[in-house]
Parts: sequence; structure tokens; C-alpha cells
Amino acid sequence: MIELKYLSKTFQMKDGAVKALQNINLTIPDGAIYGIIGMSGAGKSTLVRCINLLERPTGGSVVIDGVAMETLSPVSLRKRRREITMIFQQFNLLMQRTCLKNVCFPMELAGVKKAEAEKRAMELLEMVGLPDKANAYPAQLSGGQKQRIAIARALATNPKVLLCDEATSALDPNTTHSILTLIKDINRKLGITVVVITHQMSVVEEICDSVAILDGGVVVEQGSVQEIFANPKTAAAKRLVAPNGGSAARDLSCFAPDDHVVRVTFNGSSTAKPLVASLAAEKGILVSVLSADTRDLSGQCYGSMLLKLPAELAVAQQAMEYMRSQSGVTVEEVTGI
Ligand SMILES: Nc1ncnc2c1ncn2[C@@H]1O[C@H](COP(=O)(O)OP(=O)(O)OP(=O)(O)O)[C@@H](O)[C@H]1O
Ligand SMILES: [Mg+2]
Repeated sequence: MIELKYLSKTFQMKDGAVKALQNINLTIPDGAIYGIIGMSGAGKSTLVRCINLLERPTGGSVVIDGVAMETLSPVSLRKRRREITMIFQQFNLLMQRTCLKNVCFPMELAGVKKAEAEKRAMELLEMVGLPDKANAYPAQLSGGQKQRIAIARALATNPKVLLCDEATSALDPNTTHSILTLIKDINRKLGITVVVITHQMSVVEEICDSVAILDGGVVVEQGSVQEIFANPKTAAAKRLVAPNGGSAARDLSCFAPDDHVVRVTFNGSSTAKPLVASLAAEKGILVSVLSADTRDLSGQCYGSMLLKLPAELAVAQQAMEYMRSQSGVTVEEVTGI
């Protein structure tokens, strides 16, 4: 289990102090896939670098399996670090070494004999689906293949924790999906705890159980992914969960004052029937969808839509009444009603 207790990190700069992290309290259970999401500059990389003490916290504690990491001697810390490995957006492979030798590298550092290291490296290359690339150099691989090699290398020392800092941010959507599937498989098969740092809600949605939202160095919300999707409370969470709904809502100047515009939010318990279509079929009322950012999470609908209702007030009110009577749907008046 990873426990961050009142973790803080301040960088002292010539022109003042940068408070990158302030009083972070998080518990990441063993075997979880835990997401840490936030906009650029929120402090995500600093946080993940504090977990393995690549960055020394200036306050608080990083407790892993009951041991406060910052109290360890350099030798013990080096040993513990083999249990907490990391992959990056830019893969960080050694370009002058073959893939096999890249995977062998952490074992060399740990003093594993060459033959044994190569045997294990081949097993890992099998696991990530690239045994045929053993003798290829990183420059000869695609981005997705490089990340697979980086994952194999990260697993070489049998870690308990895999930290992924924007590991799929340089990849296209299909490759992202295949890498996330591999990470999920590794989590399930090997029971490795995974911490996923990302700025993309879609990544959290695809593989994480729980998520913390980081904004300006502070955790503003944390909970199960479903809870946060269903009921984002803070502006930072709303921005991440429904970015389009948010931006459309800010640009209301384009509506006439007597337009009836409502924001409909789905909180995950809504029925499967499509709201706009059923409003048309059951009540004969047609509405325009101005923006929609909804998603299906384990068969339940989350997110929000901005709808323009008919101009006639009585009909608009009837439409609102109908939508409000549906379970798992909240309707908020934006303008005109
Ligand atoms: N070594 C450093 N020295 C000084 N300031 C730093 C250092 N590393 C990070 N910072 C500052 O700390 C804050 C958080 O940076 P961090 O890299 O953790 O953000 P991030 O959430 O990972 O952003 P991104 O999504 O762009 O990678 C920023 O204001 C950054 O300028
Ligand atoms: Mg970063």
C-alpha cells in the first residue's frame, strides 16, 4: 500500500518559491490501478517522482508498505526503488542497446548474471508481445513498440508498483488502447499496483478503479472513477469530465435571451433509453443538441448535454418536466426559462 501523508514539495527558485505540491493525502491500495489526473502544471510529474523519491519531498511522508521512504539510507532506498519502477511518455530507452539489452539493463545494475538476465528478458519480451524484436534497436520500433519494450524493462526487477507518467500521451488512440490493455493485463496477472498519471479523462475511464484530481498542487477530489464521473463537484473535475459541456456553457452570448437552453446531466443511474429520442417519440417535442459530452461507463451514461428547447414557453416547460421525471437525469436552466 502506498500512503502519501501531508506530502508537500516546494521548489526554491531565484525569483521565489514554487509550491508544486501542498499537503497531499492519498492512499493507494495494493493491486489497484489508480489514476492521478490534472491539467499541465498541476504537479502530476512532481507527485509521481516523489513516490519513488526521485524528488525529495519538502514536507510530509511517502509510506510504502509501512516504511517511510524518506527515512531510508541511500543503499536501502536503491533496493526499494527496484520495487517501484516507472515508464514515461518519451519511453527513455537506451538507443545504442538492442531491445533485449535494454530489458537486461536493470538486472545488470542489480547484479543478475548475464545468462539468467537474458532468459528473463526473453520471457518479458514474450509477455509484451515482441519476442521477435529482441535484437532490434529502439530506433527501428514504432512508438507503441517502444513503450512495450519500456514496460518489459520496468518489469525486469519484479516490481510491486508501476508508475506510468503520461505513458500513452505520445501514442495514437488505437495504440493507446493496446498499451492500456497490456497494463491492465499486467496488473491482473502479476498483481502489480499501477499509478497512472495522465491529463486525459479517457485514459482514467478505460483502466482506473480510483482517481485523484490534482489542481494547482492540491488534490481537489478523489474517489472511485464512477463517483467522480457521476458527480464532479469542483470546477477542475467538471472541466475534466465534461470539457465540451463546460466550454459551450461559457459561450452563452450566442443565444437570444428568449431561447430556452438547458443543461442535462446524466449521473450514471439513467435508463438506457435515449432521452432526446424518447422526448420526441413520447411527447412529440423536438429539441436541438447544442453540445454533448456523454460517455458510457460500464453500461451507464455519464456526462452532460446542452439542449435548446422549442421557443414556445409551455412546450419548453413540458419538455423540462418530462426530462426531470427520468431517473438519473438533472436538468438545469441555462437561459430563457
Ligand atoms: N525541478 C523543478 N524546478 C522548479 N520548478 C519545478 C520543477 N519541476 C516542476 N516544477 C514546477 O512545479 C509545477 C508542477 O510541475 P509538474 O511537472 O509536476 O506538472 P505536471 O502536472 O506534470 O505538468 P505536465 O502535464 O505539463 O507534465 C510547475 O509549476 C513546474 O514549473
Ligand atoms: Mg508531467
